[in-house]
Amino acid sequence: MKQWFEERFHLAQGLASLFDHPVPKRSSFLDYLGFATLFAFINQAVTGILLATVYTPSAEGAYASIKLIQAVPVGNFVRSLHAWGANFMVVLVVLHLLRVFYEGAYKRPRELTWVMGVILLIGTLGLAFTGYLLPWDQEGYWATVVGSAMAGYVPFIGNFLVGLLRSGAQVTGATLTFFYSVHMLMLPALVLLAFGPHFFFVLRQGMACTDELSEARKRGKDVASESLPFWPDVAFRMILVVILVGAAMWILAAVYPKGLGAPADALNKAHYIPEPAWYFFGVYQMLKYFPGSLDVLAMVGLPLIFFVVLFALPWLDRNPSRKPRRRPLALSVAGVLTAGLILLTYQGMMSVPKALADNGVIAHPSFKKDIEPVLQNQCSACHGSTSSYPLDNYADVLKRDVIPGNADGSKLIQKLEGSVKPQMPIGKEPLSSDQIQTIRNWIADGAKDN
Ligand code: HEC
Repeated sequence: MKQWFEERFHLAQGLASLFDHPVPKRSSFLDYLGFATLFAFINQAVTGILLATVYTPSAEGAYASIKLIQAVPVGNFVRSLHAWGANFMVVLVVLHLLRVFYEGAYKRPRELTWVMGVILLIGTLGLAFTGYLLPWDQEGYWATVVGSAMAGYVPFIGNFLVGLLRSGAQVTGATLTFFYSVHMLMLPALVLLAFGPHFFFVLRQGMACTDELSEARKRGKDVASESLPFWPDVAFRMILVVILVGAAMWILAAVYPKGLGAPADALNKAHYIPEPAWYFFGVYQMLKYFPGSLDVLAMVGLPLIFFVVLFALPWLDRNPSRKPRRRPLALSVAGVLTAGLILLTYQGMMSVPKALADNGVIAHPSFKKDIEPVLQNQCSACHGSTSSYPLDNYADVLKRDVIPGNADGSKLIQKLEGSVKPQMPIGKEPLSSDQIQTIRNWIADGAKDN
C-alpha cells in the first residue's frame, strides 16, 4: 500500500525535502503565528460555507435570513464564530507580520514570501470590510457608507471609485450583491492564490529561524542535539496552537455571541450614529489631524505610501543583517509606526459617539448619560444655547416645563408625545416610546441633575 502511493506520488521523497529544516530548540511561540493565522482562515472558510447554506444575498432577504440563522443555537454559534474569527484573522495577520518584520525574515531569499504575505494582509482586510455589510443591519450598513465614502478622497477619480464600490451612488441592494461576490468568490480566490506560493516557500525554505542550523548542517555539523524533531515536538506545538486559538474563539463566540442590530435603514430614521469597523478607527482618526484639503493625505496618501513601502520592503531595506541589534533604523521606524497606529486606533475608539439608548427602557436613568445625549442629538439644532428656547443644559431643560415627579404634567413629555402640538422634534421622527419612557422615569425620579 505504502509502496503503491510512493510509486505514484513520490510523497515521502517530496516530504523529506520539506522537513529538511532543523527547527532550533530555542524557537519561540511567536514563530507559530503564521500557522495560527492559517488555522483562523480555515475556521473562516468552514463557518463561512455553513453560513452560505442559509444566507440570502439580497436587500430584501439578507436580514431575515440572518434572523433565521440566529434563531437556531447552532446557527447563532456558527455566526458568532465567523464574526469573532474575522477579528482573530486581522489581529493574527498583523502580529504575524510584526514578528516576521522583527526577525528580518523578509530578507533574501524570502522576498516573495513577504510579497505574498502583504497580498494576504490586503485580502484579509478586504474580507473583513465586505463581510461587515452582509447581515444588512444598521451597524454594517452605516460602516459601509462611511468606509466606501473614504474612497471619495482619491483625487479626480474619487467619485468614480465610490460609485464602483457601491455599485451606484448610494449603498443599496446592488452594493450587497457586489460585496457578496467579492466576499465569497474574488477575495477567497485571491487569498488562496497568494497563500499557495506563500506556504510553498515556507515549506521549501523553512522558517527563517531554521537557517542557522541548516547552514551548520551543510558544513557537516551534527545538529540533532540543538534541534527539535518535527515529530513529535514541532507537531505538538502546532497542535497546541490550534487548541489555544480554537478554544479562545469558541469561548468568545459562546460567551459573547454576535448580536444583530436593527435592520438597515437608508433614511436612518432612528438616528443611528455611523461608525467604521474598529480596525479602520486609526485611519478615520487621522482625518481629524489633517484639516481641510490636507485630508487627501490622511485618507489616500499615507495608506498608499504605507502599502507601497510594505510591498517593496525587501528591496528598500538593504541592510543584510537579520539580527535586531544591527537594524536600529528599521526597527525604530516600525516601532514608531506601530505605536502611532495603536494610539490612533485607541483615540478613534474613544471619540466615536456612542449610539443613543434607543431600545430598552432605562428604569433609573442618569441625566448626563441617558437623557442629555438624546436631547443634544435630536433637539439642540433648534434649541441650542443661542435660541430663545435653549434646551442643551440641565438648568434650561428644567425651565422647559419639567415638573419633577410629575411626568404627565410636564410640557416636555406632552411635546414629545404630541399631546400638545407641534410634536417635538419638529420635522423628524418622534423619539421612540422607549426613549420617552426613559425620560418619564427620570422625571418620576425627581428630575435630578445626576
Ligand atoms: C426643527 C426645530 C426643532 C427641533 C428639532 C425641536 N424643537 Fe422643540 N420647539 C421648536 C420650536 C420652533 C418651538 C416653539 C414653538 C412651539 O412650541 O409651538 C419649540 C418648542 C418646544 C417646547 C415648548 C417650549 C415652551 O416652553 O413652550 C418644548 C418643551 C420643546 N420644544 C422640546 C423639544 C425637544 C425635547 C426636542 C428634541 C426631542 C425638540 N423640542 C426639538 C423647534 C424644534
